[in-house]
Amino acid sequence: MIGDLKKSQIDWRQIKRCVLAECKKLDARIAVVGTKESASCLLDIIADTDIPLAGIYERVEFNGKPQFHGHPVHPLNELSQLKPEDVVVIASSAEATQLYDTFMRIRSLCPCRVIHLKTLLRTFSLIDELKDPLKFEFDHFLFGNGLLPLSGESSYWHPVPPDVDFRDKTVLELGPFEGHDTVMILDQKPKKVIGLEARPLNYAKISVMRSLYNWQNYELLLGDMHLFPQLVKDKIDIIFCAGVFYHSDKPWWLLENCMEQCDTIVLCGHVASEHSPSGQQKRQVTLASGTYDFEVYPECGWEDGLSGVTSESLWFKEEDLIHFLDYHGFRFKKYSEHVNPLGLWMMSVVTRK
Ligand SMILES: C[S@@+](CC[C@H](N)C(=O)[O-])C[C@H]1O[C@@H](n2cnc3c(N)ncnc32)[C@H](O)[C@@H]1O
Repeated sequence: MIGDLKKSQIDWRQIKRCVLAECKKLDARIAVVGTKESASCLLDIIADTDIPLAGIYERVEFNGKPQFHGHPVHPLNELSQLKPEDVVVIASSAEATQLYDTFMRIRSLCPCRVIHLKTLLRTFSLIDELKDPLKFEFDHFLFGNGLLPLSGESSYWHPVPPDVDFRDKTVLELGPFEGHDTVMILDQKPKKVIGLEARPLNYAKISVMRSLYNWQNYELLLGDMHLFPQLVKDKIDIIFCAGVFYHSDKPWWLLENCMEQCDTIVLCGHVASEHSPSGQQKRQVTLASGTYDFEVYPECGWEDGLSGVTSESLWFKEEDLIHFLDYHGFRFKKYSEHVNPLGLWMMSVVTRK
């Protein structure tokens, strides 16, 4: 992806400026994992700058003493020599969930912050995705109704509010889309809300909401929800995980991260059931807690502002989800459900036992 952009000189200058600014913000030595085109582009960008390189590492086994861009390439297990304040960048254009194994391996080798090349490209992707203002349309939840949603005037909960006290809490909202639930959460007087959204266009729409409402206690991040422990600095009290875990091809990873980082999760979305569309493909996955049969769904891609960022998603059955959460020491309490054309949608609050 970054390699294609390099072919356009104008974009490439802009990418370089954006990536350099992000690297400077890290204020750390950078260890690059990868020796393919993405790594080559990153090294071109930081060459001849004062950004300190902590080395180049390759996960694929190799013989001899290979060099890349004039630097020695180290095997991945030498990441254990890094200092905790170093930052590891996975130089790949793959989506975060496709890098799960690499990510986990790196985390097992060193205590450093691990980021994805896309994190360094986020400013550029905002500039690039938002070039065409005609795409800037809000969906039906908010302005699509012709309403300017003012606090207390109308309910934008999708679709029912959870029985959770948000007052004075720090809330992480995953995949806020256009901010319709954010309006409602912020109305409950939390201490702070952090929104983490993968799509630049949605990020921009939420930014409009933010200025419209003058949200002070709000932070908006552009990035992949599976990586939130690496992106969010605050201690989280509640994770609002609505309409997103069934848009993941590794929903267990997302949920494990949520359970590691906080005690209360508002978990709403589709689950596989007898109401699912017929003939759905199945996939068996074995995790530490057992073997699960997931339903597999295609995702609609980037044209649809609501879908996931990978080509498919895996849906838990509700009973499997309960078992999985229970295994990790969490209690599942459903507060509502309904059936829509895509199948069963359930709403729950999941708390540490
Ligand atoms: C179906 S909408 C849910 C919107 C809202 N949370 C709700 O429940 O009504 C899914 C949202 O998650 C975002 N999203 C999908 N995959 C994501 C990912 N891997 N990381 C962060 N956001 C993601 C989409 O861009 C979209 O805004």
